[in-house]
Amino acid sequence: MANFKVSIIGAGMTGSTAAHWLAEKELADIVLIDVVEGMPQGKALDLLESMPIIGKDVKIVGSNDYAATEGSDIIVITAGLPRKPGMSRDDLLNVNAGIVAKATEETIQLSPNAIYIILTNPLDIMCYVAWQKSGLPAERVIGQAGILDSARMRAFVSMETGVSVENIACYVLGGHGDDMVPLVRHSNIAGVPLNTYLPADKLEAIVNRTRKGGGEIVSLLKTGSAFYAPSAAIVQMVEAILKDKKLIVPCAAYMQGEYGLQDIYFGAPTLLGRKGIEKIIEYELNDEEMAELKKSAAGVAEQTAKVK
Ligand code: NAI
Ligand code: 2OP
Repeated sequence: MANFKVSIIGAGMTGSTAAHWLAEKELADIVLIDVVEGMPQGKALDLLESMPIIGKDVKIVGSNDYAATEGSDIIVITAGLPRKPGMSRDDLLNVNAGIVAKATEETIQLSPNAIYIILTNPLDIMCYVAWQKSGLPAERVIGQAGILDSARMRAFVSMETGVSVENIACYVLGGHGDDMVPLVRHSNIAGVPLNTYLPADKLEAIVNRTRKGGGEIVSLLKTGSAFYAPSAAIVQMVEAILKDKKLIVPCAAYMQGEYGLQDIYFGAPTLLGRKGIEKIIEYELNDEEMAELKKSAAGVAEQTAKVK
């Protein structure tokens, strides 16, 4: 019987797929919120009606009214618009900042003890908006990007080597954009460095494909972006928090001197538990890796300045 409550703001592709997997794991009761009338209600009811078939006792509610989110343990924000023709990245940033700000302001009053997981793009900047608007300690506002980016790299390494994804550990840090930093040196296959298995050209191709992983899916789907892997990543974060697992995964976290960075949300290895981000782990980086991280951080800082 699920006792925790997770509210997902934005019942589109990522939001509803996350609800599906949360219900399947019987992790929490679920509330789906969206501005589209009837849609969150319809998806929630359909999902609820599948519970007898898969044998899970989970309450699932859909609504256009934030009142339904009251008393949530976790608020997931996936609400936002994709970039449309004629829209610049800055236009998207402004529109989604408004949506994330409203979602945060509406939910924090009803769930002051919640932990926030943000997905809406541009991710690192939307985390900053949610953190500012919530007034919460930074460890309770967390961005999802690094689990997805690292999972893509793990999948590509598995495809290339034929080794189980379970044996492959990859770590992608930095902002959720083309300047993200896949850390080849820290990644491994059952403890053995990647470069023992793969030649330099193959590793470089995997790094490039990882950096462009989001765009690869968009160019295939044409009408939207990835949703299975992003929502699986959300669910891994929810589980780590609700079960107090102390799981180390890369997430967007508020930087207060870590990696020499200040006052931005940025992808770094984090220890997730019931309090949210309980620790940010600092890898030892060489000069080249640090230079790449700084480049990514400079881009995030420039964008973040627009919402401060
Ligand atoms: P989607 O378009 O399928 O769903 C977004 C939903 O938000 C829509 O149903 C829309 O009606 C709703 N919405 C818009 N304004 C709202 C508001 N004011 N209040 C409540 N709901 C509102 O998009 P999808 O694929 O679910 O992606 C959602 C966001 O997540 C996008 O910004 C996307 O770029 C981002 N994303 C980020 C990833 C990451 O790794 N950080 C991965 C995948 C997506
Ligand atoms: C992705 O990386 C769209 O940010 C999203 O797939």
